Amino acid sequence: MHKKIIITIDGWSSCGKSTLAKQLAKELNYVYIDSGAMYRAITLYFLRNHVDWTKHKAVEEALRKITLDFRYNEHSNQSEMYLNDENVEYVIRDLVVAEKVSDVAAVKEVRQFAVKQQQMMGEKKGIVMDGRDIGTVVFPKAALKIFMTADNAIRVERRFKELYDKNPNVTIDEVKNNLEMRDYIDSHRDISPLRQAEDAIVLDNTNLTMKQQLEIALRWAKEKIG
Ligand code: DC
Repeated sequence: MHKKIIITIDGWSSCGKSTLAKQLAKELNYVYIDSGAMYRAITLYFLRNHVDWTKHKAVEEALRKITLDFRYNEHSNQSEMYLNDENVEYVIRDLVVAEKVSDVAAVKEVRQFAVKQQQMMGEKKGIVMDGRDIGTVVFPKAALKIFMTADNAIRVERRFKELYDKNPNVTIDEVKNNLEMRDYIDSHRDISPLRQAEDAIVLDNTNLTMKQQLEIALRWAKEKIG
């Protein structure tokens, strides 16, 4: 029996972290956890309930009313985000949520709330978790840390295609502005900003196919697992 490890994948918005994390988890028979989905679900709750996230009391009160969990869906063959028993996996991908999620994710109480749950999900190891601070803050002792990056133009194009399929009114400029804004806020916030952990390995997938990036990551994982 191979030992189970924790694999973290951090990096810029829309550089393919979740695609790689899902495939890697499947190959290794590990659990994939999308930490960004948790911040998106909290943002959705705040927007729907008009929670002013600049006010600590309002945030604390709202967080007490939020239950987040991932549930496996046999049909889509993936785990999906539930907010207070409602499946929000698709609605949290809307641009309306994307426009505010970086601001919400910069709030101290929100991060404490999410990080605590993420650490609990990793207690048994055998997970691949992607996000912005997973290798630096959530699991600083993870056995394998990957930091993903890709050229800006490629990231905008990939994200645009993804969103356009769901909403043909979306423009390339909207997507570009949103990505630039999120990258800026995510990497400049005071608490747990996006940065590469010292012991992370960089994976630049600008010129890699999905298959190639998976092969590279799998090789790294197998070296660690033994
Ligand atoms: O990975 P994503 O694009 O779904 O993440 C949505 C936002 O959540 C992202 O702009 C920053 C925030 N986030 C974070 O601050 N920390 C994480 N571990 C994951 C996401």
